[in-house]
Amino acid sequence: MNAVARTRRERALARSFARRFAREPHGLARAPGRVNLIGEHTDYNEGFVLPVAIDRAVIAAFAARSDRQVRVYSLGFDQEDSFPLDNIERLEGDVWSNYVRGVAAVLQEAGYRLTGVDMVIQGDVPIGAGLASSASLEVAVLGTFQHAAALAIDPRDQALLAQRAENEFVGVGCGVMDQMAAVMSHRDHALLIDCRSLETKAVPLNMTAHGLKIVVAHTGVRRALSDSAYSQRQQECSRAAQVLAQVIGARPVVALRDVTSKDLAAHEGNLPDQLARRARHVVGENERVLKSVEALRQDDLPTLGRLLYASHQSLAGDYEVSSPELDLMVELACHLEGVVGARMTGAGFGGCTVNLVRKEAIDSFREQVIETYRSRTSLPAEMYVCEAVDGLRIIAGANAPASHSPQD
Ligand code: GLA
Repeated sequence: MNAVARTRRERALARSFARRFAREPHGLARAPGRVNLIGEHTDYNEGFVLPVAIDRAVIAAFAARSDRQVRVYSLGFDQEDSFPLDNIERLEGDVWSNYVRGVAAVLQEAGYRLTGVDMVIQGDVPIGAGLASSASLEVAVLGTFQHAAALAIDPRDQALLAQRAENEFVGVGCGVMDQMAAVMSHRDHALLIDCRSLETKAVPLNMTAHGLKIVVAHTGVRRALSDSAYSQRQQECSRAAQVLAQVIGARPVVALRDVTSKDLAAHEGNLPDQLARRARHVVGENERVLKSVEALRQDDLPTLGRLLYASHQSLAGDYEVSSPELDLMVELACHLEGVVGARMTGAGFGGCTVNLVRKEAIDSFREQVIETYRSRTSLPAEMYVCEAVDGLRIIAGANAPASHSPQD
């Protein structure tokens, strides 16, 4: 049995690696998906978010090679890709291995000297569900390259590099929340991230003490239309910030993060209606994140629940990124006794809702929310009861090299 593999899933992955590459892996890199508790579409406005890393992850089994070739096999796609570190090209289309190539490319651009690796990857974060499957892939791959070449990289830089791979190499605009959550989260905690300073605070969830579970409900609809609508929202927000910067004289407005709801009430007449509604969501959502952290600290679940519902209303009404399916899932949940709060999570236009549900109401959630939803829509809804887990973990064998910085 491979020395680094501990769970059944890790052992199966180590066996696949051994079959494919005829040697044992040196290590495993595990990076979780996340569910965002609150703080939606605030990260690219330099605001606040409160994600939770969940017990669904991408795991990469890896071993360094003595040359500069990368060979990577995806168990889920049953496909292998192979490329040289000295000439990394982007593949045409929406291909999983571009995330692997992209991470290698940005690490090298940033001055890190990589070694070739063999890798087998496997993930159980549903794709297109708003649970950050791409970030978990990027971060697991980043952990692999980093460990194989014994590089020391600051956790914030890990997240920023993974984000850069997605933005610049893969070509998908996204904020930094998902990669930060995949790197920096702590078990049993949510992660408050200030997306301007990248300061983080682990916020205790006390789920067991509260008798609560985090339930993710998948609408059975993969995120659609999201890329163009997402970049449209980004542009609308930066235009709104520019206009408000002209009229709020008292202090600089660089992003909507710098605008308070008081400012907005006084000045939103300067914005066209659509931009005013976008700004209202972002400004209100930032305030809701901070209030949610306070509510968690005070064990004030009713307030937390109200904030989650208010977030959903704002995303549906002002920000217009919900969908009829997401609205129905939240609507069904909010009438069920034992549900503290519910909202859509992630970019929107499909994917999942996040629900805080009392332990004893899990079965009725399945029957009355998921089953009712299925019968009304004929869509294959699913639910995942999630644990809050740690961010990136490398499990390495005894002969694995120690970390050193690129200058050593
Ligand atoms: C996607 C992006 C994140 C964030 C959310 C919306 O998950 O990857 O950066 O913007 O949408 O909150």
